[in-house]
Order: sequence, then structure tokens, then C-alpha cells
Amino acid sequence: MLGHVDHGKTSLLDKIRSSSIASRESGKITQHIGASEIPSPIIKKICAPLLSKFHIKLVIPGLLFVDTPGHEAFTNLRRRGGSIADIAVLVIDITQGIQAQTREAIQILKEYKTPFVVAANKIDLLQGWNPQNTNSFLESIKSQSNKVEEELDQKIYKMVADLYAYGFSAERFDRISDPQKQINIVPVSAKTGEGIAELLTIMAGLAQRFLEQNLELHKSATGRSVVLEMREEKGIGKTIDAILYDGTIKQGDKIVFATLDGPKFSRVKILFRPLPLQEMMDKKKKFKEVEKVTAAAAIKIACENAEEALPGSPLLVVGNDEKQFYDEVEKDIAKVMFNSEQTGIIIKGDTIGSLEAVLKMSSSAHIPVRKAFVGAVSKQDVAEAASVEEKDPFLAVIFAFNVPPVAETIKEEAKKNKVKIIESSVIYKLFEDYEEWAKKKKELEKQKMLSNLTFPVEIEVIPNTCFRKNNPCIFGVRVVCGLLRKGISLMNEEGISIGVVKDIQINGESVAEVKKGGEAAISISGITFGKQVFENEHLYSDISREQTQLLLSKYNFALSEEEKELLKKIKKIKGYTIF
Ligand code: GTP
Ligand code: MG
Repeated sequence: MLGHVDHGKTSLLDKIRSSSIASRESGKITQHIGASEIPSPIIKKICAPLLSKFHIKLVIPGLLFVDTPGHEAFTNLRRRGGSIADIAVLVIDITQGIQAQTREAIQILKEYKTPFVVAANKIDLLQGWNPQNTNSFLESIKSQSNKVEEELDQKIYKMVADLYAYGFSAERFDRISDPQKQINIVPVSAKTGEGIAELLTIMAGLAQRFLEQNLELHKSATGRSVVLEMREEKGIGKTIDAILYDGTIKQGDKIVFATLDGPKFSRVKILFRPLPLQEMMDKKKKFKEVEKVTAAAAIKIACENAEEALPGSPLLVVGNDEKQFYDEVEKDIAKVMFNSEQTGIIIKGDTIGSLEAVLKMSSSAHIPVRKAFVGAVSKQDVAEAASVEEKDPFLAVIFAFNVPPVAETIKEEAKKNKVKIIESSVIYKLFEDYEEWAKKKKELEKQKMLSNLTFPVEIEVIPNTCFRKNNPCIFGVRVVCGLLRKGISLMNEEGISIGVVKDIQINGESVAEVKKGGEAAISISGITFGKQVFENEHLYSDISREQTQLLLSKYNFALSEEEKELLKKIKKIKGYTIF
């Protein structure tokens, strides 16, 4: 379940659970940590009329719902479990439409190619909605006025248009023409329960269509799970909440999980399963001790070093070859937590899942990353970013995602070292801010460069335009490529210096610069037309080795492709080779 804050993810899950309990005869529903299992007999019961209507034969054993308190838990699960968040419910408050975290969720779904259904929630808030005592939307809509139906359609089509902008073709579930391509939008109300039956039916259908093969469980396999969080439980101590997505885990099993100091071995002291919801209401205890658990399920583990487990990282039952499992965890963390010598940005995030999400987006945005680590921004980070500044000022950047606010002293240090720290708890905001900052910086750097460096230029001497042979020599030129500026030194094709452009005039008026294609008269002292300079001759800016190097590296962004070619030509004329 993912979506913008307050759009009703938890409420929907609550409603699914309570309607499950209401229709419960066999099977148990469990509620805990943030995951809820709805076994297939219950889905069948709630959805029976719809399953037959949509010709769905239920073969999955049930659905395990995972609630997300923001986007990061979801990312954690996605990346680790692989098959945990196999499908997603994108919850959108129909009265509000797509909002900041909805956009973020859509990005994530897109990146991971996760199949999803849209729950257009809070239909009961539509003006004139007449709540019906049913959990079927199709039933309820029969009793709604034309006006409210119109309003609903209007909102849905706005949603369809917005989703289309993200490259998704979507449609109200009962109007879908191409089930392979279109995304189902299910109008629901977490308050009244209307639409819950359709939502569950479509999820079950989707799960089966996309995942029948993938969902096959490796019952015999050693347990594979992903850490949700670390929790202190009264009377138990520190425990790890996790989702077991494959295989089996038992009390006494040796396990390995990720910590900030690398993988650590431990042993399952006590294994718990969350109690079924109704039992939970009876008693104070929320968990039940169990011997063993088979996937897919939510589990709680009491073990040594539990407090060090990194949310979002894998927790594996260790099989025969201990090292293999250790290496697997290590390799897994290394993908998202690393420190290199690369010229790139630094990412600090609150969890492994956060890091992974930011890394993924950086890669899409072609922003190289030098280092990614869990934790607050440190002085060391600033020092490392500062070392990048010399090579590429646009990468002397630290992304601080969902971490504690950066200390003032560190901010000052960053400023002093021209390091940009971008803080946000909204992932796409990091990238928006970065873009904006980079754009401004580019403009500034370009201005600075233009005033300090000799810009590449190629000019052609126009025939019959020698206005004065010498003292100073004045003649007409056309700018072939680059930018002609007052004060630059010119050379000819052989690399022989011609002199400094003293003045540039157009129609008798002095100008500072002339762009490509422009024509002007220039004056140069110390030469004579016909001796050092000739008609039709091409002249070039005479750029020092040091400046050529700067233009080819640090200021490369300021040159067009054509100007880069010109600079290479100038470099060749000058005979600069060692770069
Ligand atoms: P976060 O976990 O903070 O991201 O929010 P959430 O998406 O889990 O939203 P939550 O379920 O906490 O609901 C937020 C508010 O919206 C609560 O006050 C709910 O009672 C209300 N709400 C949720 N669904 C509905 C609905 O279908 N109709 C109405 N009228 N209110 C709803
Ligand atoms: Mg919630």
C-alpha cells in the first residue's frame, strides 16, 4: 500500500481486515508490524460474485499486505524481497488527486516495473454520495445519483490524464478494454467499505496474472527475509521485525544480517508470529511464540545483536555453506553502501532502502555517486565532497535524505569548501533542487569563465575591407565559430601570434563581443595588413595551455559541440599534447 500521506493507506488496510473478519469462517487474519495476511478462503468469501463475473479462479494461497508509512519502507521491501511487493496498491484520495508522495510512488513503481492498481479512495466524500451497505462499488453505484456519478467520472478522468502524463494508461476497472496494458482504477471508500470487494478481486487477479510462476514458494529452501525494523518489546527485549518471503525459519537457526559494520551472524533465540487479529483483541500479548514459520509471513525474531540490524536489508537463515550466506549479505549491502574514489556526489540516507532509492534515481539522472552511506552528514563527508570540487564543481554535492538536520558547523564548513548540501525528506525534491542549483551555478560559472578565460573563436578576414594598413591595423572580419571578444589574442593557422584585439566596431560603434555569423571591424596594433594578415585568412584565439586545459575539463559544459571541435583545432595548432 503506498501513496501520499493521509490518502488512506492504513484505513484501507484496516477496512480490508475488518471486512475480512466480518466474513471470516475459516482461515485467520493476522495483523502486526505493518503486514496483514488475507488468506484465500476469505478473499473468496468477500469477492465471490466478482470472481465469477471477472472469470477469476483463485489459485494463490492469499495476499500479504504491507503498509508503508512513507515511501522508504516500500523501497526496502521491493529491493530486498524482490517478490515481497510483487504488486502495489497506489492509494489516491479522489478529492485531492495526485500529490507529492503520489508522484514519488509512481516514480518508484515505474523504476521497479511493479504492477499496480489505483485505489481511488474516499469516494464517500464526493458531494451527494449516498453510502450503501455493501462492500461492492458496482452495487453501490447503482444507487447513486447521476450528479454524483458525473462528479466521480470527472475526478477519475482527471486521474487518468495525470497518470497518462507519467506514461501509464489507466481506466476505471469496469471500463478497461485492454487488461494487459491498462491500469485498473478502483473507486473505494475506506470509511464505508464500498469498493473493497472490487479492490481485492482485482488484486487477486493481478497477482495471479503476473505472478503465478514467480509466486511459487521454495518451501524446502532456507529462510530468506527482509528486515522491517528493530523494536524493543516489553518482556522480550530487542527484536527484529521482518518479512519472510521465501523458505522456512526455525527457532535456533543460525542467521546472518546486515549491520553498519558489515554482516553479522546470530541465532534465533525466540521466533514469533503476530497473533490473529481477534486473539490480539482479547489478550494484551500481540505475538505468539512459534517453532517455525514458512513464507510468506511476517515474523519477529529475538536474537543477539538485534539492535544493529539495518532496516531494509536481508536477513538470511544460514545454510551449510556459511560463507556463501555471509557473502550474499555483504554483496547486497555493498550495492547500496559504498565509498569510492570516483568523482561523484555523496548520498546520506536514513535506511538502506532510502539509499537504494536515491541511488536508483541518481543513475537515471546520470549523476555519478562517489559514496552512499546510512547516517547523518559528517565533517568527513564535506571533506570528501570538497576533494571532488576541483575535478567537477557540479558534483561537490551531498544529498541528505531523511537524515537528522545538518549541524550549523558542518554547513559552514561546506560553504567554505564550495560544497552544496541538499537536504530533503522527499526524494524527488533532492533532484529538483539539484537541477535548479546546477543550472544557476552553470550560468554563474559561465559568466565567470567568460570574464577570465579566452573563449575559442575562429574568424575570417573579409576581402577588400582593410580600413587602415597599420598603427593600428583595422580590417573587417566575420565570426566563423565561437565568440569574438575585445582584448583577446589572435594567431594564424600556423600558430604565429597576430596580436591583441584592441577594439571591435560595428557601424562605427564600439562593441564588446561579436557572436557566430556576425561581422565587424577589428583593430590590432603592431602589424601591417598584407604582411602579417591577409584577405580570406582564418584567425584563431591564441589560448594558453593552462586555459585550454580548463576549457576542456572544468568549463567544458559552457562550450557547444562546434566550439569544442574548434578548441581541439586550436589545441592542435598550438601543439598542446599533454593533457
Ligand atoms: P500515512 O500513513 O500518514 O501516510 O496516511 P494513510 O495514507 O495511512 O492515511 P490514513 O489511513 O491514516 O487516513 C488519513 C485520514 O483520512 C484519517 O483521518 C482517515 O479517517 C481518513 N480517511 C481514510 N480513508 C477515508 C475514506 O475513504 N473516507 C473518508 N471520509 N475518510 C477517510
Ligand atoms: Mg498510514
